[in-house]
Amino acid sequence: MPRIYLSPPHMGPDERALLLEAFDSNWVAPLGPHVDAFEREFAEYTQVPNACALSSGTAALHLALLMLGVGRGDTVLTSTLTFAATANAITYVGATPTFIDSERESWNMDPDLLAQEIEDCAKRNALPKAVVVVDLYGQCADYDRILSACARYDIPVIEDAAEALGATYKGKSAGAFGKMAAFSFNGNKIITTGGGGMLVAHDGHFTKQARFLATQARDPAPHYEHSHIGHNYRLSNLLAAVGRGQLRVLEERVTQRRANNAFYREALADIAGLTFHPEASWGRSTMWLTVIQIDPSVVGRSREDIRLALAAKEIEARPVWKPMHLQPVFSQRRSVGGSVSAELFDRGLCLPSGSALSPSERDEVVAIVRS
Ligand SMILES: Cc1ncc(COP(=O)(O)O)c(C=O)c1O
Repeated sequence: MPRIYLSPPHMGPDERALLLEAFDSNWVAPLGPHVDAFEREFAEYTQVPNACALSSGTAALHLALLMLGVGRGDTVLTSTLTFAATANAITYVGATPTFIDSERESWNMDPDLLAQEIEDCAKRNALPKAVVVVDLYGQCADYDRILSACARYDIPVIEDAAEALGATYKGKSAGAFGKMAAFSFNGNKIITTGGGGMLVAHDGHFTKQARFLATQARDPAPHYEHSHIGHNYRLSNLLAAVGRGQLRVLEERVTQRRANNAFYREALADIAGLTFHPEASWGRSTMWLTVIQIDPSVVGRSREDIRLALAAKEIEARPVWKPMHLQPVFSQRRSVGGSVSAELFDRGLCLPSGSALSPSERDEVVAIVRS
């Protein structure tokens, strides 16, 4: 049996045609017509008016923090339940992350804990310089409550929407809620360019500045003139061509991932002690990954037992992100709460969720989980 992957790339004829067109045009550079068009089309999709294509989602987070002036000695509050890239970017600028636990409705940052931590920081006269909120597994955080907690002290929010392209919150697209938002086109995401990212912002000043910083901060001059430290973070025109093709089928990909989720929910509904990542009332999740929770005291098996049973049949499943406050590299950092995300990690398993997953592959996954 061929291996079933967690979330493999899903390419179509448009992506191939656009890539070949880019190749034949000889715009084989980190700039070109496909980069410009990808930015325009992405901005149109998300309805956030400015977009800057970058080499990764991590690069987008890094530049967003730099542009907000976050640096050495600053604190940044962020979600503990995330991939390391979120917290790593905070450390790149010399700042210190404080980790906020998840709520149970969406597993995203708990707005009450965030508000409480901001008040505590205010009392200590040590307000955070920024808050980085993660939209986990294709679902937006509760932005009304998060933004109101931050607005009280005028703390800027960066949205880490790397996993949430296509999601909505109260009718608006993921990426619309912070001063800036970062998306990822890493190989496992709902659409991919192999590797890549996008920074979006309501204020075009940020994307203009991001373009400057992402091209080694080259000042306008015929020679190479530099008055700032820059980075090499732009997206290749070849990859932008692939991204344009992927963007055309994004809504289909959301439908396919949601169909996987609906299938798993129905097929596993009767198993006591097995529950699913909830879809919160405030919006549409893309169900980028379908995630189950296993209560070992009821099921009699742990999520690791199930993961290993799937692995033995060449099926890739992954534990939920290990929270940042439990990572050795961040063990000295402050954490606000932490028991909810720790439990989600202990019990959580991401099932194969690719948009090209076939009915027989889904049946196989379900059969093994049930057994
Ligand atoms: C929540 C989150 N943030 C940031 C990233 C980083 O994106 P990239 O891999 O494009 O650098 C990822 C995924 O890779 C992610 O899942």
